[in-house]
Amino acid sequence: MELSVVGISKSFNSIGDGETISALKDISFKVPEGRLICIVGPSGCGKTTLLRIISGLDKPDRGRIILDEAEITTPRKEIGYVFQEPGLLPWRTVLRNVEFGLEVAGVHRNQGRLKALLFLELVELKGFEQFYPKEISGGMKQKAALAMSLVMEPKVLLMDEPFVALDSQTRNYLQEVLLRAWEKTGCTVIFVTHNVDEAVFLGDEVICLTSRPAEIGKRLEVDIPRPRERTGSELNSIRREILFFLEDERKKSLHST
Ligand SMILES: Nc1ncnc2c1ncn2[C@@H]1O[C@H](COP(=O)(O)OP(=O)(O)O)[C@@H](O)[C@H]1O
Ligand SMILES: [Mg+2]
Repeated sequence: MELSVVGISKSFNSIGDGETISALKDISFKVPEGRLICIVGPSGCGKTTLLRIISGLDKPDRGRIILDEAEITTPRKEIGYVFQEPGLLPWRTVLRNVEFGLEVAGVHRNQGRLKALLFLELVELKGFEQFYPKEISGGMKQKAALAMSLVMEPKVLLMDEPFVALDSQTRNYLQEVLLRAWEKTGCTVIFVTHNVDEAVFLGDEVICLTSRPAEIGKRLEVDIPRPRERTGSELNSIRREILFFLEDERKKSLHST
């Protein structure tokens, strides 16, 4: 199973002045099964647009998304999505939130419950099953959102800056929870972030996008065994390379405006 992003381009017509905004320009890459790749790029460059196209929520102007030799044109259960906002249903407990997708898919109630409990344990939320979203912290909400996606057993999980609102310690902890869950499930993960530390800590590879229109500016393998040391010298040299790249992009975009 491999995910192929083939020659994706996308523009938007901005409302009002009728100007066309080119968001993505000829983006192509492949993600082998089970790999965790991170995508970094300047704010507003087109990262969310790219994820939405990969998920089938939006259509590209040009290009195709291929999963298992089939083209993705609409959302499918094989592709999960974790958003910046956890998106839990406030009137349901954590457990009932995780069961929700299974209910909709027609999974038998007892079977759904067992599975939901298993995935809650996987994201380290055991003991919080009966809490309501308003009773738990932001980090716990994101773990519940992760369980909601993983319980559907997607082949590919798309994550759009899921930890951006968390304090740095909680963020570090959730990165570790994600890595443990990823290693157990073996699903492919595409993780978007503008945080370089996060990208090099998590990814097998980091794809760097340019300023808008986003093109692939750089691809870096992070061939460092896990568990990784956040401040290790190998990670630091990759981090530095990405930071230089992003700084160059920032300067270029300043000159062009
Ligand atoms: N539905 C839309 N209509 C018009 N413009 C959009 C739409 N979605 C995104 N854009 C524009 O496309 C660009 C990229 O947006 P986005 O993908 O959200 O960036 P990022 O996630 O990298 O911050 C931005 O300039 C944004 O304003
Ligand atoms: Mg975004």
